[in-house]
Amino acid sequence: MKTLIVYATHNGSTEKAARLIASKLHGCDVKNIAKECFDLSSYDRVLVGSNIRMGTIDRKIRQLLLSEIGTLLKKQLGLFLCCAFYENGELYFRNNVPEQLLRHAKAAETLGGAFDVQNLRGLDKIAGKMVRKADHDRGILRTFSLQIDRIDAFVQKLGDATDS
Ligand SMILES: Cc1cc2nc3c(=O)[nH]c(=O)nc-3n(C[C@H](O)[C@H](O)[C@H](O)COP(=O)(O)O)c2cc1C
Repeated sequence: MKTLIVYATHNGSTEKAARLIASKLHGCDVKNIAKECFDLSSYDRVLVGSNIRMGTIDRKIRQLLLSEIGTLLKKQLGLFLCCAFYENGELYFRNNVPEQLLRHAKAAETLGGAFDVQNLRGLDKIAGKMVRKADHDRGILRTFSLQIDRIDAFVQKLGDATDS
C-alpha cells in the first residue's frame, strides 16, 4: 500500500512523529505541507499530521482537509496531532477536523510533543506561557514530549506495521 504522510510543524515534533510513523510502515513518502508538493491521487493511504497551537491545527492542513475532503474519503485515512496536552485529543479533533473525515479515519490520535517555554521566542513565548499557565492553574506540573506508546498505538490501528 502506497502511503503519503503529510504534516505541518513549527518546532519539529510533528516532523519527528511523521518520520517515526514512516519508519514503522512500508512504502511511505513524507512531505512537509509548507515546503513540498504532492499528488494525493498517487496514494492508497494518506496520513495527515498537524501541530496544535492555541487549540488549533495548522492553517494549510486545515485547507487540505477542507478542499480535498472528497478525495480523502476515498483513501484509507489516518490523522495525528502533536500537542502538549494529548488528553484533550477529542476536543482538538472535534474542533478542527470535519466530522465526516473523523468518522472515516482508521486511526486518529494525539501523540504528545515537546513543549519547552524556555526555548520559545517573541509572541510564541508569550502564548506558550499562557498555555502553560492554564496547565499550572489546574495543578499539573510535567514535562512534555512525544509519546512513543501513542505513536505505536496509532500505527497498530492502521493495521500493517512492519516488525522493525
Ligand atoms: C504558541 C503555542 C501554543 C500552543 N498551544 C497549545 C494548545 O493549545 N494545546 C496543546 O496541547 N499544546 C499547545 N502547544 C504545544 C504544542 O502543540 C507542542 O509544542 C507541539 O509539540 C508542537 O508541535 P511542532 O513542534 O510540530 O510545532 C502550543 C505551543 C506553542 C508554541
